[in-house]
Amino acid sequence: MQESRPTAIVTGASRGIGRAIAVELARTHRVIGTYRGRRDAAESLRAEAGVEIFQCDVSSRPDREALIAFAREKFGRLDLLVNNAGMAPRERRDILEATEESFDEVIATNLKGPYFLTQAAARWMREQGGGGRIVFITSISAYTASVNRGEYCLSKAGLSMAAALWAQRLAADGILVFEVRPGIIRTDMIAAVEKMYEERIAGGLLPQRRMGEPVDVARAVRAIADGLLDYSTGQVLNVDGGFHLRSL
Ligand SMILES: NC(=O)c1ccc[n+]([C@@H]2O[C@H](COP(=O)([O-])OP(=O)(O)OC[C@H]3O[C@@H](n4cnc5c(N)ncnc54)[C@H](OP(=O)(O)O)[C@@H]3O)[C@@H](O)[C@H]2O)c1
Repeated sequence: MQESRPTAIVTGASRGIGRAIAVELARTHRVIGTYRGRRDAAESLRAEAGVEIFQCDVSSRPDREALIAFAREKFGRLDLLVNNAGMAPRERRDILEATEESFDEVIATNLKGPYFLTQAAARWMREQGGGGRIVFITSISAYTASVNRGEYCLSKAGLSMAAALWAQRLAADGILVFEVRPGIIRTDMIAAVEKMYEERIAGGLLPQRRMGEPVDVARAVRAIADGLLDYSTGQVLNVDGGFHLRSL
């Protein structure tokens, strides 16, 4: 019974959105959830949801290779990859002041890492004979300019194109690729600015007047994992309370 369940890798599953996705998927899939430094959080995920955990800095090529080797050994096949791991700049700085070091770190983590992890996963899925699904967790920052974290916006705009590229390249192999684009979601990532966002949401920033929760994003991934969107490769799912809508 256990062995017939499909398999999934969720990066950045120790906390926040990735954790909610891993918990949701664990109801139907065998899941490997990765973390970077917070082993305590990853251990608690394992205890809560019964998922395998694996340390992997997605910006590191040896770490990505080790993750794929671990998944091959544990599961022998891969049905779903969720590229969720990501970081905000350590410090929000106006683009007139921001540093190349922060640029390099954020781009390596949010763009280069998932792009090449997807390359490895795609090769594996093709080797299996095709089929499978890949999800990129991007952000409203893919198209919203925040001048105090330009490197983050660039990383997410690039990741959005990565989703389109892989959707195009892999469609003939039956490997479906989706972009999930969260808005403002209550996690550690936005803790420092949560109060400010709550005030702006109360003031009408979002058509749906509440902050998003990690489970809102996990439900979108559930629909993809269940195959409900299987004729929609390349689709962008906005999980943002309507932030992307324009009004006049
Ligand atoms: N929260 C939002 O409002 C929001 C909105 C739009 C998009 N997003 C995107 O959603 C994704 C998840 O964000 P979140 O809010 O859940 O963030 P979070 O609460 O800060 O959690 C980030 C997760 O990613 C892991 N991680 C960070 N850097 C990593 C790296 N280099 N390699 C591997 N894992 C790494 C962390 O591992 P450790 O626990 O070990 O540190 C943690 O599990 C990110 O891609 C983010 O950009 C978030």
